[in-house]
Amino acid sequence: MWRCIAGVVFLVPLLTAASINKRSIDLIAAHGLISDTKLPGDVTPNSYTLKLHPYPDHGNFSGEISINATVQHQTKQVVLHKHPDLRINLLRVVQILPSDYESRTMSPNSNEKGYKVQMLKTTWEQTTVSIEDSRISVGSRKVNKQSMISIDMDTVMKTGAVLEIYIEFEGYMFNDTTEGLFRNSYIDPETKQKKWYVATFMRPNLARNVFPCFDEPAYKVPFQVTIIRPKHMRAIFNMPLESSSDPSSYWVADRFQRTPPMTTFSFAMVISELSHISINVSDSEVYFPDIKMRVWARPDFIEALTNVTTKVSKSVKFLEDFWGSPYPLPELNIFALPNYQATKPADSWGLLMFKESELSSKGSWHLTQELVYQWLGALATPFWWSDAHINNALVRYITAYATLKIGENETFNNWPTTMLYSIYYEFSKRYPHGKNTAIKQDSSSAKTELVFRMLNYTLGETTFKHGMQRFMSDRQFKTFFGDDIWLSLTEQARFDKTLPEPITINEIAGSWITKDRLPVVTVTRNYNDNTAKIYQRVYLRERPHDVPDQEKFLWWIPVVLIRQDKMNFRNTTPLIWMMKEREIILQDMPAADTFIIINPEEIGPFPVNYDTENWNMLAEYLQTENRTRIPVYTRAKLLHDAWNLAYAGDLSFATALNMTLFLKNEREYLAWDPVFTLIDHIGKHIDSSAVHKKFQTYVRLLLTPLYQELGNEPQEGESEGRAHLRSSSKVFLCQTGYKPCIEEAQAAFKKWMDCKNPDEGNPVANQYICPVFKWGTKEEWEFGLQRIIRFPPSRKPSERTYLLKTLTGCPNDPSKIERLLNITVLEQNGNFTDNDIYLIFSMLTGSANGYTTLFNFLRKNWDTIKTRFEDKPMLWNSIITSATTVFKTQEGLDMVSKLYLERRTEFGNADFVIEKALKNIREETRWSNDNLPVIEKWLDGYLRNNEDKIDC
Ligand SMILES: *[C@@H]1O[C@H](CO)[C@@H](O)[C@H](O)[C@H]1NC(C)=O
Ligand SMILES: *[C@@H]1O[C@H](CO)[C@@H](O)[C@H](O)[C@H]1NC(C)=O
Ligand SMILES: *[C@@H]1O[C@H](CO)[C@@H](O)[C@H](O)[C@H]1NC(C)=O
Ligand SMILES: *[C@@H]1O[C@H](CO)[C@@H](O)[C@H](O)[C@H]1NC(C)=O
Ligand SMILES: *[C@@H]1O[C@H](CO)[C@@H](O)[C@H](O)[C@H]1NC(C)=O
Repeated sequence: MWRCIAGVVFLVPLLTAASINKRSIDLIAAHGLISDTKLPGDVTPNSYTLKLHPYPDHGNFSGEISINATVQHQTKQVVLHKHPDLRINLLRVVQILPSDYESRTMSPNSNEKGYKVQMLKTTWEQTTVSIEDSRISVGSRKVNKQSMISIDMDTVMKTGAVLEIYIEFEGYMFNDTTEGLFRNSYIDPETKQKKWYVATFMRPNLARNVFPCFDEPAYKVPFQVTIIRPKHMRAIFNMPLESSSDPSSYWVADRFQRTPPMTTFSFAMVISELSHISINVSDSEVYFPDIKMRVWARPDFIEALTNVTTKVSKSVKFLEDFWGSPYPLPELNIFALPNYQATKPADSWGLLMFKESELSSKGSWHLTQELVYQWLGALATPFWWSDAHINNALVRYITAYATLKIGENETFNNWPTTMLYSIYYEFSKRYPHGKNTAIKQDSSSAKTELVFRMLNYTLGETTFKHGMQRFMSDRQFKTFFGDDIWLSLTEQARFDKTLPEPITINEIAGSWITKDRLPVVTVTRNYNDNTAKIYQRVYLRERPHDVPDQEKFLWWIPVVLIRQDKMNFRNTTPLIWMMKEREIILQDMPAADTFIIINPEEIGPFPVNYDTENWNMLAEYLQTENRTRIPVYTRAKLLHDAWNLAYAGDLSFATALNMTLFLKNEREYLAWDPVFTLIDHIGKHIDSSAVHKKFQTYVRLLLTPLYQELGNEPQEGESEGRAHLRSSSKVFLCQTGYKPCIEEAQAAFKKWMDCKNPDEGNPVANQYICPVFKWGTKEEWEFGLQRIIRFPPSRKPSERTYLLKTLTGCPNDPSKIERLLNITVLEQNGNFTDNDIYLIFSMLTGSANGYTTLFNFLRKNWDTIKTRFEDKPMLWNSIITSATTVFKTQEGLDMVSKLYLERRTEFGNADFVIEKALKNIREETRWSNDNLPVIEKWLDGYLRNNEDKIDC
């Protein structure tokens, strides 16, 4: 998938010690858990005064915090967050009523839990205070170690009372993970000594591991922080240093400027001996204050980061201009932390922490994304974890927006198609994202990102940008809800008159965000009266299309129209919005001999189908010199939509395949991109039929000229797109048996076969292995098999897995697969584990040759296999599934039905599998019966026209 997991923050429910290492990104669960334990809100903080003293050499820390808080509703309890591993040594609550009561200290007493507790009260009565590590049940599970404490008072505190909650605490730093307050080390290149550093990672709710606090995003208050550090180290915090204590003693106390209101997860500090580069980011055009920026790293690594400052200044200036609001803090410190473990950078406020390799890498996408969080997340903060979903999607969109504008297009130039295609595939499944919540998160977030993109195009860039500025100036230093974003955009669009009354962005966005589906739009032109009917419904690609409640799905859809007689791709304002209407009629369409395009540039995330005449006009136009008047994203879209609609059964393959004819002259990577998925998906689908051979010839004819032109070797200074195009065309050519490729692969493989000790390592590049196992000799394949059998335990298991996968999944020759099955299943060779066998079965579903061979093997050896797997129901289930479910033709249906009849009572726990399999095969057979003849006829025509180019 694309890189979205990295964008998911906030969503981790870290409520118990046991769950700390489990980085769940299950939004639903996170909501449930976090809202169950929401702080009562009776007492809320106004500010924190914190003194933190880490001991880098010993791995522990101590601290004291004074929380100024207000009683919002009268209560006898103060509830706040504190991780169970954080130890409280002293706790004192002072109540300062707003009238003229005096404070008076009671002598400290101890409660049975062993904390020293002091209660300072305004009244003279003797008070007992109890502190409970509260035990809150979450759902049906009992969470014993809760991360809250509730302090029970024996008197009621009145609304409006101001409290000082003072706590002394201590805890241990994390040593091997990047969580809470952690330490890590590196070797100093000069002295060869181990150097410690201490740093923080507070997202999403780990501040409670470091100090007691109100650890929810909504409580944004100022921090006054003092950090105590060894005098030879340096402490960096969100804000600049204000003053330091006497430097002659070993421990020095650094007091930092008071922060603006900020959430607990924005808190950050680093104590280290790292070196830095320092510059001032100033902007002569925009009148914003200078920012002091420093980039920190090991002394021997800092060289590699010289370009970071330039990239950061560029991004910061762009973002200041975009938000119309200055970078919100006086300093920006960026760290390349040695041995930093986290999967994503820490985007605290004013203090970013990266892996060394990430910060030194090419491009600025990563950096820009973390910088966007400085505004969206730190300056304006999602009120609750659930609003973080929209926040993340917007951050990603603005990052893409900035990256494209700044001109770092090289590493980025297939945004947003990769992401878009994956969500097209995902949301059009019968069961989108199955039960996998991580995929659900990813695809929902990607969809929301694309909704922002759609709004940018349809409202216009100016309205979009000004809407964002309106939002930011309204919500800065505060929190926001998702709806605040839509509201600002609506207000701006009203002001700019770019959105007709009474449409609101809230309604538009809602119709896209709340569904796990996307629409498909069908355009049917009436060439007699120059009208076009536009019709929307749920987009379903995987068959059968028997999704319940389809008629209930309706979207707000922008109809952006391009007409051949007045081609203008600049104007992206919708001609009209489909307002959750099933169908509308467009008048005044162009003449019958000119095409129209709806939804150019993938403005909205939905495919578009046309009537055959319009498709044919498009296909023909694309084959002319004028092709490039249609921008490349739109060319790609037309091609991608066409074959996917055919794949779904909504368009004739003859029409769809005509849309590939223009590729003969096409050399842009983006336009080719959809072809590789076409070859993959359709190839897999038809590989059990005789048509497949013709399809492979077609693929060779399509790709060979391209590949020859690109050349075998990369050229100096060529673009990533070109390199990509070369490697993709090569991979796909090899799969179809392109001779030069196979010879090259075999030559590379021979080096391995000639090795004295071939088990020591594998000198063959991965790209060559599959072609050799597929098209190569039995000896070559057997050599691979022996390498698995003799795989030394000292080598990486992943290399063995790769070998096993290719050895199973690639061959064309059934006898190779039979041999593997004999060894592993019948002979039960001890070199193969159950997991290996499981993997073998699942790999065999990838090609007709694989699953047909497996089927025959199962049928022939039924009784033996059944005995072998008697006490391994998982494996039994797996072999039945892999051997039966993926057939796609009548022949396959007959084979599986026959087996079912023969062995009706013997399937055991796999009974339901076979019934489901038969249902699927029937559906696929219908598809094959409908489509294979059409595909074959088209391919015959194509091959006839290209007869001269076919090499046998
Ligand atoms: C506590 O916060 C309130 C409200 O911000 C403020 O008026 C008061 O001065 C603060 N008190 C202390 C002791 O900091
Ligand atoms: C980190 O290491 C120190 C020193 O070895 C140890 O006392 C401490 O418990 C460790 N921290 C954690 C969270 O395991
Ligand atoms: C910094 O950028 C320049 C120019 O783009 C490039 O030549 C140089 O290799 C880069 N330096 C590093 C350390 O990446
Ligand atoms: C935003 O929309 C404008 C057209 O209004 C378009 O030119 C621009 O490329 C879009 N930007 C992004 C990042 O989608
Ligand atoms: C971005 O793309 C444009 C046009 O495609 C090109 O002129 C420019 O050099 C590219 N920028 C970078 C940084 O590669």
